[in-house]
Amino acid sequence: MPAFGRTMLTHWHLDPQVAYLNHGTVGATPTRVLAVQQAFRDDMERAPARFLLRELTGTFPAPWRSESRLREAARSVAGFVGARAEDLVFVTNVTTGINAVLQSSQLGSGDEMLITDLAYGAVTMAVHAVAQRTGARVRTVSIPFPPSSSGAVVSAIRDALTDRTRLAVIDHVTAMTALVLPVAEIAEVCHARGVPVLVDGAHAPGSVDLDITDLDVDWYAANLHKWALTPRSCGFLWARPDRQADLHHPVVSWGRDKGFLAEFEQHATHDPTCALSAPAAVALLREWGWPQVRDYIHNLAWEAGRRLTARWDTRLSTPEEMIGAMVTVPLPEAAGSTDADAAALRLALLEEDRVEVQLHASAGRLWVRVSAQIYNDITDIDRLANAVRQRLVVSSVESR
Ligand SMILES: Cc1ncc(COP(=O)(O)O)c(C=O)c1O
Repeated sequence: MPAFGRTMLTHWHLDPQVAYLNHGTVGATPTRVLAVQQAFRDDMERAPARFLLRELTGTFPAPWRSESRLREAARSVAGFVGARAEDLVFVTNVTTGINAVLQSSQLGSGDEMLITDLAYGAVTMAVHAVAQRTGARVRTVSIPFPPSSSGAVVSAIRDALTDRTRLAVIDHVTAMTALVLPVAEIAEVCHARGVPVLVDGAHAPGSVDLDITDLDVDWYAANLHKWALTPRSCGFLWARPDRQADLHHPVVSWGRDKGFLAEFEQHATHDPTCALSAPAAVALLREWGWPQVRDYIHNLAWEAGRRLTARWDTRLSTPEEMIGAMVTVPLPEAAGSTDADAAALRLALLEEDRVEVQLHASAGRLWVRVSAQIYNDITDIDRLANAVRQRLVVSSVESR
């Protein structure tokens, strides 16, 4: 078992000069997984038609294989996320998976879709686009940040359901606010009103324990190219068996109306090696020790929240049960309050202090979202804490 922390950077191409605290926005792939991907590419280039037409999806016979390459990869990923392989297909990213479900849903005027105000911007846009096309309404539930408890989030969602709600779109881990939401409890209250649940699990695989079957939701879309360490362009869509028949890929292609797997596997030409490398990424997480990885990144995120707020004299009030591998904390008021302040500080931290971190303005102040990966340790957090403090000291001296 390796010792986690900055020494793990030897497994990545990341610039060691930079404290990379932004794995949640743009994940980074270990070199070993990239090497596996390159080996798949080499294989593909040796016999492109055989690889793509026969072996990848089984569109044409490949008597030398018992299973297509994609099914084999799906089996390995399914085992990691608590699903059956036949219910899971690869998609390029979570956005595509979510669009597939939204665009396949049969909505009409008077129907409502429920989403929270913590949802990722592009997902919210996709929901509104479907509403515009179908005449359905969007009901946006406001979740106070930080929430007092996960139960408060469940109650807010339960109270917003109406007789007209036809779909709830729920994050597993929210984007800017980095909250782990109680998906199973939310699904229970939605199902009690007959409302199906689509989960945006962009950040979940590889950052929190995930057993999709246990969550009892209707659809679960996720990225593997963030915390599950696959090369980019790798996500998946899981659908409960009774939700598969009406599900279409947002891009119409050869698999149209040929069943769930064909719908998502027999489509236009693309490079599938990111999905094929997913088993290697999952194997690496297992080799490094998944429970140890999960605990390390959670503990570092929690400690980051405590240490940053102590150093900046602000408050961390998010309950620990709602924190996974990321934490969002307020900056001191003197750091600014506008989008322009956030952009300027983020750029200065990157260019001058060599700290890459997500930073945004909300509710009249700035917030930083720290991602904790196994290549980070407390020295990265201290670097961020000191850099911000130093900047505030300098700006207060200059304004005197
Ligand atoms: C909660 C959430 N949903 C969706 C996405 C979109 O991910 P992608 O661009 O890989 O589709 C993100 C990206 O950070 C996210 O944080």
